[in-house]
Amino acid sequence: MPTGTDRPAPRRVRLDPDGPVLVEGPVEVELPDGTTVSSDRFMVALCACRRSRRYPFCDTSHRRKPRRRPPAPS
Ligand code: FES
Repeated sequence: MPTGTDRPAPRRVRLDPDGPVLVEGPVEVELPDGTTVSSDRFMVALCACRRSRRYPFCDTSHRRKPRRRPPAPS
């Protein structure tokens, strides 16, 4: 069992409320069909809006069409 001193630093994941999930790379992403894709980038943007043509990676398509927010309760 690893001690506190030999544990790797936790990988930081940042959630953009209107955009991608930013993950410190490199990463290997397993898709629902079992295939994997990888990126060696320092920071990897994973699409959370499902509009990307490069899914699972963000291609900034989320910027062109903002996600609709539910109406505020009255
Ligand atoms: S989050 Fe950027 S294209 Fe989906």
